Amino acid sequence: MVKDFPQVITIDGPAGAGKSTVARELALRLGVFYLDTGAMYRALTLKAIRSGMNLEDASGLVGLARGTRIRLENHNGGAKVLLDGEDVSDAIRSPEVTNKTFYIARTGGVREIMVGWQREIGARQSIVIEGRDVGTVVFPKATHKFYLDADFEERARRRIKELREKGKQIDEDSLKTELKDRDHKDLTRSIGPLKIADDAVVIDTTHMTVNGTVDEILKHIKNKA
Ligand code: C5P
Repeated sequence: MVKDFPQVITIDGPAGAGKSTVARELALRLGVFYLDTGAMYRALTLKAIRSGMNLEDASGLVGLARGTRIRLENHNGGAKVLLDGEDVSDAIRSPEVTNKTFYIARTGGVREIMVGWQREIGARQSIVIEGRDVGTVVFPKATHKFYLDADFEERARRRIKELREKGKQIDEDSLKTELKDRDHKDLTRSIGPLKIADDAVVIDTTHMTVNGTVDEILKHIKNKA
């Protein structure tokens, strides 16, 4: 199904649409590399917070990105994020990082660097890549493009469940407000906004399971092969 040359399968969509779980499972089933681009933006945000940088300083952020090594590794269906050699897989999921990543994501110079790293990874091997702009900007000629969506209430429910399973205390109303705010910022930024690529297959996962969504994606891939 995945041929000899590097093939790219892109999955875009808003937070909570099921991208990460679906992309991870899909990559596992196809035996290809899983690339979480959000993890890259999060990792750089973590570094900027730790170094006490002014997050409004675009050129400072670009300089920070240039001097940073972000490595993503796949391990038995899971993914590890290394920031300058340190495992930050858990640290990048904190609410502070989640709410401050937009500073990094709206900075054009940083996006250029991130996109360069993502293209390099996709040139070496077949990948399932997920994010906001991966089918529109990063790999506009990708072999297969998908856009996952779900009702707002369902996306919020999934986020709450995920965080509670990790033992976090959640205030449902503030989580919903933050999710809405993140949607708005992702949809309206001038560079690399969340958008449906013209040639993407749109899947509404509101009433679908992870395996059901992966099966649906595989059906589309098979039909197009
Ligand atoms: O996918 P995840 O929710 O981990 O992404 C965190 C944030 O990183 C998003 O809200 C978005 O602002 C940013 N992002 C981005 N472009 C991508 C992936 C993520 O701007 N390709």
